[in-house]
Amino acid sequence: MSNSAATLAETSEAEIAVHWKEEGYYYPPAQFIGQANLTDPSIMERFSEKNFPECFREYADMLTWFKYWHTTLDTSDPPFWKWFVGGQLNACYNCVDRHLAKYKNKAALIFVPEPEDEPAAAITYQELYRRVNETAAVLRDFAGLKAGDRVTIHMPMIPELPVTMLACARLGIIHSVVFGGFSGEACGLRAADSGSRVLIYADSYWRNGKLADHKAAAEIAVDVAQKEGQPIDKVLVWRRYPGKYSSAAPMKPGRDYFMDDVLKDCSRTRVEPASMDAEAPLFLMYTSGTTGKPKGCQHRTGGYLAYVTGTSKYIQDIHPEDVYWCMADIGWITGHSYIVYGPLALAATSVLYEGVPNYPDAGRPWRIAERLDVNIFHTSPTAIRMLRKAGPDEPKKYDYHFKHMTTVGEPIEPEVWKWYYEVVGKGEAVIVDTWWQTENGGFLCSTKPALDPMKPGSAGPGLPGIYPVIYDEEGREIPAGSHKAGNICIRNPWPGIIQTIWGDRERFVRQYYQKYCRNPQSKDWHDWPYFAADGAVLASDGYFRILGRVDDVINVAGHRLGTKEIESACLTVPEVAEAAVVPVVDDVKGRMPEVYISLKPGVSDGHRVAEKVTAAIETMIGKIARPKHVHVVPDMPKTRSGKLMRRVLAAISNRMEIGDITTLANPDVVEQVRRLVQGEARVPTREGPEDLRRFGQEA
Ligand code: WT7
Repeated sequence: MSNSAATLAETSEAEIAVHWKEEGYYYPPAQFIGQANLTDPSIMERFSEKNFPECFREYADMLTWFKYWHTTLDTSDPPFWKWFVGGQLNACYNCVDRHLAKYKNKAALIFVPEPEDEPAAAITYQELYRRVNETAAVLRDFAGLKAGDRVTIHMPMIPELPVTMLACARLGIIHSVVFGGFSGEACGLRAADSGSRVLIYADSYWRNGKLADHKAAAEIAVDVAQKEGQPIDKVLVWRRYPGKYSSAAPMKPGRDYFMDDVLKDCSRTRVEPASMDAEAPLFLMYTSGTTGKPKGCQHRTGGYLAYVTGTSKYIQDIHPEDVYWCMADIGWITGHSYIVYGPLALAATSVLYEGVPNYPDAGRPWRIAERLDVNIFHTSPTAIRMLRKAGPDEPKKYDYHFKHMTTVGEPIEPEVWKWYYEVVGKGEAVIVDTWWQTENGGFLCSTKPALDPMKPGSAGPGLPGIYPVIYDEEGREIPAGSHKAGNICIRNPWPGIIQTIWGDRERFVRQYYQKYCRNPQSKDWHDWPYFAADGAVLASDGYFRILGRVDDVINVAGHRLGTKEIESACLTVPEVAEAAVVPVVDDVKGRMPEVYISLKPGVSDGHRVAEKVTAAIETMIGKIARPKHVHVVPDMPKTRSGKLMRRVLAAISNRMEIGDITTLANPDVVEQVRRLVQGEARVPTREGPEDLRRFGQEA
């Protein structure tokens, strides 16, 4: 929860004026409009408040239900909304089986290995059906799993990942996919929290030209889960090259099994898709919050699948004929919703790329697009910035044509947007800048691609059926066009929102609803706005510009990391007395964590301790959390009550105005730390971006 409330309220800075040149409009190309799924401007009327919640039938009706629901939205236990109550369906059936009649011989997935000499592999819907059934048989008959059980899947971007997810969904097993780049420790903690007794791994994968040993992480994950009180009795290992084991980690007899071995007993087995309650959990996705412990976002089957299918159709403009490539990782929510569930529910061809975008060079994505004739492309501002930096003219060399491009995960600078539009999109593609979060299931704000003009740097209006609003700290609405920033909230429930935080209903309420709830006794959804923890400004045309997090979360390359999580990792190094983590601006990744540590008395080798801190962060969380710098400081700036002033450190790291420090217990330390970080000479300060100005304003 934002602690900036107090400070902002007293300085009335919740309404910090945001001076940003308004960009002009870009209009959707006629060719795009001619073929788009959503061209009827009455959509906003159809999904307006007077038609809420029944408007969302339109999305649910895109699915095949085993049993139709009787209540679209049940608000009897706020804010635990229930969607499509009484309905039954199966997510795997909707993504695979139902397409066989028309599309069995069409590619469902095209797997592109990172090594360029390894050919791409198309997996048809028929083939996917076969693989998913056999994998489901292994999960049921060999691993003894059943509906409602949790399974932790720690895998890279290989086709066996979506196959395993869909096999879980077929049986009603709740999958919890942990991003492959997270460490074994991170996986073990998540496995324990979810109560998984089975882990699913891959032995190895290609990344940046190297075959990375991934199974090694399983050993650590099992130990960590065990220490947390969660025994792991099976580790199922997919081999990147079936029959050939590519890891140095030993296979433990009686616990570890190669999937290609155990699948042999299940060949040709068919597994009936389970008829699942619309409200049955489909998966967990762990994400960082304001406390040290990652939270398991629990997504439901019916509402989630309806929402990602509807938004994939209308906002991603996916048709079965399209070749769609989302360059995210399936280990994040973007991949779940917009590589696997949404596109496959619509019978699209979804491209799955194993490696890093600029391997072996910055032309790689455009060669893939050319070769596969990709026409919808979806990526993050970080990837766009990286490709622009490494190969600004590369896209021109290749003969591909996108009709549609998406950006997601972070604010995109207008000049980066323009490169995406003009160079990557060759001026032919429509762009959607989609704002949403792990908790949301699918897009919340975006332009409707054939209907709304684009505005660089702005996500756009709320999606059909999503009613966003900006509140100040007191819950007063900040009007459109006032140029004032505040907290973006969603006034209404929607089908994609999480059901709860796994095992922690109280945290769910506190995190998202406590701040602006008008009456905790009320059963009227109008009294329960959803607090997103993002700052935003609303322009007079109804477009939202997202400014970034207002809590202790750092958005690194479009991925969320909790400062408290990183600080806990630092404190595992015995020589460290205190640690503080702040976000620092990075040209490519948007933000990166920067670490400040002070040493215990008698410890002198700061440099070595700093290296140990970086190593600890990589071990406990993963390379993604690697700090930009580790500063060893004599002491931390603190208030008289002993509270660590992260705001001051963030200002130093980002060369922003430090502000008032007279109330600190040790104001002299600030100048010492400043010199250490910035050098002897005073460097000019700058105003700094909104999220950094708000960062850590507690106390
Ligand atoms: C945070 C959520 C949702 C998929 C990827 C990230 C930031 C997300 C945008 C956007 C500006 C954005 C927000 C949000 N964010 N999309 N289009 N423009 N900022 O999911 O890891 O849950 O992170 O990403 O700060 O709160 P996530």
